[in-house]
Amino acid sequence: MVSSHPFGIDFGGSGIKGAPVDVQAGDFAGERHRIETPQPSTPRAVAAVFAELLSRFPDSTGAVGVTVPGVVRHGVVESAANIDKSWIGTDADQLFTQATGREVHVVNDADAAGLAEVTYGAAKGHQGVVIVTTLGTGIGSAIVHRGALVPNSELGHLEVDGHDAESRAANSAREREELSWHQWAQRLTAYYRTVEKLFSPDLFVVGGGVSKHSAEFLPLLDINTPIIPAVLRNRAGIVGAALYARTGGA
Ligand code: BGC
Repeated sequence: MVSSHPFGIDFGGSGIKGAPVDVQAGDFAGERHRIETPQPSTPRAVAAVFAELLSRFPDSTGAVGVTVPGVVRHGVVESAANIDKSWIGTDADQLFTQATGREVHVVNDADAAGLAEVTYGAAKGHQGVVIVTTLGTGIGSAIVHRGALVPNSELGHLEVDGHDAESRAANSAREREELSWHQWAQRLTAYYRTVEKLFSPDLFVVGGGVSKHSAEFLPLLDINTPIIPAVLRNRAGIVGAALYARTGGA
């Protein structure tokens, strides 16, 4: 049966994962497929993988949403903190639409996760200011107010104690420096306090792979804002990207 479900692609440092998404249910509408991320992961090399991935779903015909770990404005990638620098200035919507023959819309990875968590997940229906942060290689952020996303907030690059925040508080810093949960929680406290001071959010949601260990570190944070783990976990990127694409990328 031909499905007009939108399709979500999560472009990560090690894998490119995709699935059709049922946007009523907020879940995959079919099996998820994964292909290794090519090295170097230039836009052209990645575009070829997207075409291969989509060819595995001949019945899927809907719009395609793709997460990118950088600033995305009107389909153009404008930063590349943790990816190949050749992404900067690439009109990714155009490149991927040409490469795949599908309508493709690119969205910042944390913004996709934020949309998914507010629409279906941990902050479903929340009417205040919700800040979704993803703790991974970098720190991603999504600011959502009454369900509406303010894109490209890039709060992982706030300066905290004289450092680019993600260089000390991302999950990659915890792993690299072999920090205990307690040591990492101190850095996260400094980070979230800075965000609190600037934005006075009503709720923080914490995503990224490490959120499955949230019981180890969230109770150790000393901040004033409620902070809860994401619930869509590794589905958030795909589901959020598909949701974004279905609304025409804006
Ligand atoms: C990038 C963001 C991205 C985050 C998580 C940061 O380094 O600047 O755009 O959302 O990493 O991948």
